[in-house]
Amino acid sequence: MTEQTSLPEDARDDLLDRGYSRRQLARVAGIFGAGAVAASLGRPAWASGGVPDPAPTAKVRIGANECWTGPLLPGQRAAQKIIANSNRYAPQDERNDFLKAVMAVEGVPYDHIAPWPGSSDPLSRAIVSFCSPQRGLVTADPTFELAGRTADWLGAPVKRVPLTAEYAHDVRAMLAADPNAGLYYICTPNNPTGTITPIPDIEWLIANKPAGSIVLVDEAYTHFAGVPVASPLVTAGRDVIVLRTFSKIFGMAGMRMGFTMARPDILAKMIRYDGGMQSGALPLPSLACATASLTAAPLIAARRAEMVQARGIALDHLRARNIVVKPTSANMIMIDWKTRPAKDVQAAFRAQSVEIGRSWPIWPTVSRVTVGSATEMKAFCVALDKVMA
Ligand SMILES: Cc1ncc(COP(=O)(O)O)c(C=O)c1O
Repeated sequence: MTEQTSLPEDARDDLLDRGYSRRQLARVAGIFGAGAVAASLGRPAWASGGVPDPAPTAKVRIGANECWTGPLLPGQRAAQKIIANSNRYAPQDERNDFLKAVMAVEGVPYDHIAPWPGSSDPLSRAIVSFCSPQRGLVTADPTFELAGRTADWLGAPVKRVPLTAEYAHDVRAMLAADPNAGLYYICTPNNPTGTITPIPDIEWLIANKPAGSIVLVDEAYTHFAGVPVASPLVTAGRDVIVLRTFSKIFGMAGMRMGFTMARPDILAKMIRYDGGMQSGALPLPSLACATASLTAAPLIAARRAEMVQARGIALDHLRARNIVVKPTSANMIMIDWKTRPAKDVQAAFRAQSVEIGRSWPIWPTVSRVTVGSATEMKAFCVALDKVMA
């Protein structure tokens, strides 16, 4: 029997050497894929090769698309309160409270929601669940790379499709690039460009994609943009997964909380091998913090306004220096240094104790700068003047 698995050759050989049967390989691929891929490839910006880099020592850290400040106060209070009862797996059914909060805010049914420790794990899992050597991934370029890296690791074909002139996802070109893909990945607002792919474009892709495939909409930065979201497509029962994280506007990157919204049959495929253990058992302080934060609409709006104001400081300064940047709807700005490699510019900023973001291979002279606090953006402007001098 020649069992096709999505495992890379070296991993497959290793498993066979250790006594796994060929029939077990496909199942192992699921476990190995989601776990190991999330651990080794879903690493956050600070980690490399499985060994965490030391945290940047720069005074101003505007490189990793984190929030400039910690969790919203109601979230902090809820997290602190529950620590004393954390001897229990579920002192008062906190998971249920979280699901009800998502239902109330997003309008999706209860059984269409799965919480996770961050959004990297479910992002990798979705690739493991819906892509294979036969059914590949279509993603944008540039975009958040985890989906593409996971598919590469699994040996699933990957098509990387350039953004449109407005830096939206070119959904028609994405479908044309692989009309039989297993998953189409849309990041909106897109990391690193901060640009929106309109919901009608996403609807078009869902309506025209092949049967059995999934459109994954990663809305990690959506609260920064305040634009229409894709959760109604979940409620409408479409072939879509909507991915959210608390690592961005909610200031909880180190607390590891996220959730997916999708039809129950889609979620079942993502949790099939661990029976929902990853999704079911989450650190209580993180869960409580997320529940209290998600429902704090006025505080979310205030934080968005604070980001817009801080972003404006940087944008005004760039404009005054005749540095043209594309419009962005999220907490990031892409700056083209034209003749200077982005890596060199990043090093020059680091010398000013300002850690800006990286570049993407498709645009080697463009850096991503995360919007921090107003004070941080003023420091960025001062450093920019020195770097450009
Ligand atoms: C678009 C996007 N999706 C997902 C993630 C994963 O974040 P986390 O695992 O912290 O939820 C990130 C992190 O930067 C991101 O930018």
